[in-house]
Amino acid sequence: MTRSMIALALALALAMAACSDNSGGAAVVPAKPVEGMGAATLADLRTDTAFLDVMNHVIDYNAWGVWNAQGWIIDKDGIHELFPTTEAGWVAAESAAFTLAEASNALMLPGRPRSADKEWVEFSHQLYDAAKKAQETALRQDKQAFFDAGGEIYQACVACHNRFSPKDGGKPMGHLPELPNRTPPPNQ
Ligand code: HEC
Repeated sequence: MTRSMIALALALALAMAACSDNSGGAAVVPAKPVEGMGAATLADLRTDTAFLDVMNHVIDYNAWGVWNAQGWIIDKDGIHELFPTTEAGWVAAESAAFTLAEASNALMLPGRPRSADKEWVEFSHQLYDAAKKAQETALRQDKQAFFDAGGEIYQACVACHNRFSPKDGGKPMGHLPELPNRTPPPNQ
């Protein structure tokens, strides 16, 4: 091999290594600067957490942080509220809602969307909007509006699952909250 052939072979090997690097099977993202992202490029985003782990441990976990903090149960002893009764409880509910809103962006990170269909983005935005509504209403401690926002969060989950979750076969997932458990509030 001549010196220039060796140089060419080396350059090719380096280029191939660069193409097949850390993406773990996800989309290969160009390391171009993005307006507003400072020194970070899209290639700097760490997306090796499995999609199902994001769903179970980030999205689902924080959705329950909202849902567990709302609703009414009516039984023979009367009406029991599930809403927080302390300032710290409201802050926890608000924080779960904030986390859920931020996490909805994680559904659109490189390699995460299950489809190039724009609907994926729209469902992620639907989740963001509902979670922000839950955050704002938890901050105001407006029980009815916070409860309604919880319903909107649920609808965003189900809308995306109906369209994109292969396991659900077009049906809402069994273990999402059973809304019938939650009795409507008394007129107030
Ligand atoms: C933008 C689309 C989208 C949104 C919004 C979404 N999901 Fe998912 N979710 C999926 C897909 C797709 C799967 C199936 C992934 C798979 O099976 O590989 C899934 C799976 C799950 C799973 C795992 C089920 C299992 O079999 O382990 C849970 C739990 C879950 N989602 C909860 C939620 C909750 C709760 C919300 C709303 C707060 C939500 N998801 C919103 C797309 C979405």
